Amino acid sequence: MNLLITNIKELAQVRRGEDAFHWVTGNDMALLPSLSNAYLLIEKGVIRDFGPMTQVPEVRFETLDANGKYVLPTFVDSHTHLVFAASREEEFVDKIKGLSYAEIAAKGGGILNSAKKLQKATEEELYQFALKRVHEIIGFGTACVEIKSGYGLTVEDELKMLRVAKRIGKETPLTVKTTFLGAHAIPKEYSDRNEYIDLVMNQMLPRVAEEGLADYVDVFCEKGFFTPEETERIIREGQKYGLKGKIHANQLNISGGVQIGVKTDSLSVDHLESMGREEIDALIGSQTMPTLLPGAAFFLQSAYPPARDMIEAGLPVALATDYNPGSAPCGKMPLMLSLACIQMKMTPQEAINAATMNSAYAMEVLQTHGSITKGKAGSVIITKEIPSLDYLPYAFGSDSIETVVIDGVVVSH
Ligand code: NIG
Ligand code: FE
Repeated sequence: MNLLITNIKELAQVRRGEDAFHWVTGNDMALLPSLSNAYLLIEKGVIRDFGPMTQVPEVRFETLDANGKYVLPTFVDSHTHLVFAASREEEFVDKIKGLSYAEIAAKGGGILNSAKKLQKATEEELYQFALKRVHEIIGFGTACVEIKSGYGLTVEDELKMLRVAKRIGKETPLTVKTTFLGAHAIPKEYSDRNEYIDLVMNQMLPRVAEEGLADYVDVFCEKGFFTPEETERIIREGQKYGLKGKIHANQLNISGGVQIGVKTDSLSVDHLESMGREEIDALIGSQTMPTLLPGAAFFLQSAYPPARDMIEAGLPVALATDYNPGSAPCGKMPLMLSLACIQMKMTPQEAINAATMNSAYAMEVLQTHGSITKGKAGSVIITKEIPSLDYLPYAFGSDSIETVVIDGVVVSH
């Protein structure tokens, strides 16, 4: 669709040439190139032009006057589990009352609880549940989202989840990438863990690939879940079907997941609450994006990933929500920016780079998203009248976003 946005106080994340297609690393993360008093022209859903208001073109396009407001690219949320059947606030209350993770799991909580509920839901029901979350996150400024399976844990239920995720990509304005996470937890009925791992590798993966249901393969590499050796085997098996790795690494412990991610050339390693010097060193020079999920650290009251150490070591970092019913029941990217700034000491500019350019790399949409660049998607956020762009993460929990445009169409206002 066609749209002209005029009188933009500041058009943020403007990138030209090669700069638009590379992740942003180290010191460069502090730089957010922008243009003051600008216009933005979107034609047939794609950014055709932008520049100073003194050069605004004369076109008969629908026009939005952004007087006093900021415009930035829509967020890219590169790690979610937003297809699920039910919330888990009963565990939340148990946790408040002091029950441990193990006690909650023994009461039937955790990932296996979500799996039980998801197995009972039909594909249509799951889609309708997920649709509510989709509209919610669009209002928060997200236009691209990665969605994982991992609450099915049987062949048919994993396929069902991925079909729902794919359908979201087809029937809603969101650009979706899907990830097969059959190796999320071992169901109770398997007394021999290898039996389940065999099922993941020899039955689930071939079906997922045959139906073209996933772009990536993920493993929860963690004590009590999957070992680094198992993680490597599953990721390598997925790669045989053309699925790149994206690993849940170092959430609760130094799990070895980061090193496996680098060794297998995985696209990203995500969580990283537990990082030592060796883990940071392992990432240097790799093509693997360290992805931080501060919503999960907040909800579980764990340590936050050492974002400053990573940036100071010259690494890029990405931000995502981890939207899921167990450890991060929140899909609000602006809140992740606030947590990044407040809890991980990232500057607003670093946080915006992490939630646009770098998260776009982490789900391979950097060719089309992540920056205001001619030829990229005309998907932008228009803020309310706010005093500065720094206000966005500063006013945590506030709704500073007024309008969301995806592919030139106003989808939320
Ligand atoms: O990313 N870490 C593993 N999986 C999810 C949440 C699991 C759950 O449902 O409790 C996560 O935090
Ligand atoms: Fe996750």
